[in-house]
Amino acid sequence: MNRFPTFIFLLLLTLFRKVYSLDRANNLKACAAKSGIPVHLPPSPIYSRLKSQSFRSDFATPFAIATAYSESHVSILIKCARRFNIRVCARSGGHSLIGHSLCKGLVIDLSSMNSVKMQPGGVAYIQPGATLGEVLWNVHKEKRWLAAGVCPSVGFAGYVLGGGHGPYEGRLGIACDDMLSLRMVDRKGRAFFVSKSKRPELFWALCGAGGGHFGVVTAFRWRTVSSGPFDRAVVFRFKWPTSRGGEVLEKWQHYSEWGGDVWFRIEVYLRSRDEGVFGYGACYRVRSVKECMRRLKYAPFFNTPARTTEYISYVRNALDVHAFFGPEGGWGQYRAPNLRKAMLNQRFTQGEHANGRIYQSTFLRFNATHEPSKKFWQTYVDFCQSAYGRNSIPWVVCEMNLFNNAIDLPNNNAFAFRSANLITNYIVGGGRREHKKFVYYWMRNHFEPYTVGVYINYADLLLKKYATAYWGSSLRRLRRVQKRWDPSYFFMNPQPIPQN
Ligand SMILES: Cc1cc2nc3c(=O)[nH]c(=O)nc-3n(C[C@H](O)[C@H](O)[C@H](O)COP(=O)(O)OP(=O)(O)OC[C@H]3O[C@@H](n4cnc5c(N)ncnc54)[C@H](O)[C@@H]3O)c2cc1C
Ligand SMILES: *[C@@H]1O[C@H](CO)[C@@H](O)[C@H](O)[C@H]1NC(C)=O
Repeated sequence: MNRFPTFIFLLLLTLFRKVYSLDRANNLKACAAKSGIPVHLPPSPIYSRLKSQSFRSDFATPFAIATAYSESHVSILIKCARRFNIRVCARSGGHSLIGHSLCKGLVIDLSSMNSVKMQPGGVAYIQPGATLGEVLWNVHKEKRWLAAGVCPSVGFAGYVLGGGHGPYEGRLGIACDDMLSLRMVDRKGRAFFVSKSKRPELFWALCGAGGGHFGVVTAFRWRTVSSGPFDRAVVFRFKWPTSRGGEVLEKWQHYSEWGGDVWFRIEVYLRSRDEGVFGYGACYRVRSVKECMRRLKYAPFFNTPARTTEYISYVRNALDVHAFFGPEGGWGQYRAPNLRKAMLNQRFTQGEHANGRIYQSTFLRFNATHEPSKKFWQTYVDFCQSAYGRNSIPWVVCEMNLFNNAIDLPNNNAFAFRSANLITNYIVGGGRREHKKFVYYWMRNHFEPYTVGVYINYADLLLKKYATAYWGSSLRRLRRVQKRWDPSYFFMNPQPIPQN
């Protein structure tokens, strides 16, 4: 009998919450509509289309999604959301591997703010929603270049706010080292400049702490370099049998990429027909394949026996390097035939790709008395191989990048792991969750003796102590920045910078 009042109470509560939430949604919509900004609510078709334009779209169901076309749109959307108690997150390229940019609040989609212009003095003006392909294409037109990752579909803002690593770090450092200034809209909807001299703490934090913490960045001013040296490149892909993996990796870990002249990444890529340890990358500032090979022959790891050449070729220009390593180039299997398409038509082509995958990316540090052995690497390669096809898992990628010459600028920004020797990535795709988790934990434990941090741009929801893992020695200072700019966590992030 006395269950009845509880039932009525719960019913009323549910009804009230439905009406209240509908009310808030409609209020938000009306507020933005006054400034001519459409806000899309579920289950409208535009909402569904916008939601699906994320590399991982099954993380959360946003309350609403709105596309911003200008900084003032961003500001208005933030003010409206605030008025009705709705939290906000920004989405630029939508490539967050775990769906950080699809929060349960209002998603401000910045993909239409994607212009890239060269200004006098080699400075690029870059809007946050430009993809890396769009940025590189536009600066290359003016014979300029900048550090970017290999994949053209990644969004510029998310990539650089998390640091940004890629094939140029041996020469140019991590991507955000070239940030000159930016525009940000804060939790109150105020827009302002941030640079080394204006709001320096915020500037420090916005290079390397990851997106989605302090405000919404609406534009960047960026330092560029001449594209000349990068236009004279050779791209390659070599292969060794997996049984040689330990030997290759043990020697490779001492290589320093010669100040950025030869970028060489190692990947254990496993499919049923084609397995092995692959080395791929690029020689820069060379005039021929021969010259590149002459250089490589100085590297002890390269002379590991049983090497075969899968692909090697001189490229037309620096963009071509990305047409080789980006998805159109099949991750270094061939060069994309249409450069323009490979660089500019990548937006959202990989929507929903990451659903159900597990990623992990760790920074490793070692020295002469404490370093990974040949056996350590062979065990890793063998595990990676055995994980493929184990139980239900159809796809595993184990990738290793050198990090030992990312130019060191201590304390210049919040990126905490410059002193790492290597950065490792692995992706476990498909299959049942318990099988994926088994692979994940095995790999994490294997690297543990050398792990100094986790790369925030490959955010990881299985990490329990994520704060020290992502931010290391920068954490204390970042807490102060968080407190100053967003003490109540208006900007929604599943892994926020904790207060203590
Ligand atoms: C295929 C692929 C290849 C990759 N290759 C590399 C690589 O080579 N090197 C590398 O370093 N990383 C790489 N990454 C990781 C990539 O750098 C991160 O996923 C990055 O965060 C993506 O940026 P985005 O703008 O596309 O992401 P989004 O999902 O839009 O945003 C990522 C985070 O930043 C926040 N954010 C987005 N825009 C803004 C803004 N304007 N202001 C404030 N916060 C914002 C979001 O809320 C979210 O928390 C790769 C990822 C993928 C999927
Ligand atoms: C090498 O690394 C180990 C483990 O981190 C450390 O204990 C040792 O002091 C280091 N040695 C040198 C010479 O730096």
